[in-house]
Amino acid sequence: MFSKKISDQLQLLSWHWIKLVLCVAAILPFFIMVLGVINNSLGADPARALALETGRWSIRFLLVSLSITPFRELFRLSKLAPLRRTFGLFSLFYASLHFLVYVLFLLELRWSEIGSDILERPYITVGFAAFSILALLGATSPKSVVRALGRKWRVIHRLVYLAIILVIVHVTWILRTDVFDAALYASITMLLLGYRLNKSIRKNPSV
Ligand code: HEM
Repeated sequence: MFSKKISDQLQLLSWHWIKLVLCVAAILPFFIMVLGVINNSLGADPARALALETGRWSIRFLLVSLSITPFRELFRLSKLAPLRRTFGLFSLFYASLHFLVYVLFLLELRWSEIGSDILERPYITVGFAAFSILALLGATSPKSVVRALGRKWRVIHRLVYLAIILVIVHVTWILRTDVFDAALYASITMLLLGYRLNKSIRKNPSV
């Protein structure tokens, strides 16, 4: 009994360390970007380099966040569940930086152009729609809001699948994108959506 308690405590402790290491690793790209700005080592077009890096980290964390549930279910690792929210919030963090870089350095604070850009440039329109969904998911992620929303929370949080589809469209639309990257993001998304769909069908065969 006593040894079981100790082993539980140790497991809890190591789990806290794992989470801490993951959070430090997730924030590292941000500091690397800040260092790049300070050292002026972001290349010939620093604004574009920052836009690409922040966008890429945002989509990576979004995909990692979406992979947590299948990974947790397939390998029976129930403790991984909170990481879905953690990585989702990191995705929102990098998406917010991405938007900030766009407004500050690409549009150079020409506020009047933001509206027309969002309405008239399709890849910005879908990017902005995805960002709005991520912001909504972030705003409804605190435990108190989860409790207050009850069943509605699940329905709202299914929008994450719409967000990732919009991001894939956004990335594919930017023709400068490395085709390999876009294909990789799209394949992972298809796998994740396939897993989710298969689960819903098995739960509710009449659908
Ligand atoms: C707030 C709305 C958004 C705006 C205004 C926006 C704008 C941009 C811009 C201007 C670029 C650089 C295009 C270029 O000149 O090469 C870009 C690239 C990118 N964006 Fe966004 N974006 C938005 C939302 C998002 C979101 C929510 C994500 C991911 C979750 C995302 C992921 C990416 C990625 C991965 C790239 C790089 C594509 C590549 O590798 O070439 N964007 N975005």
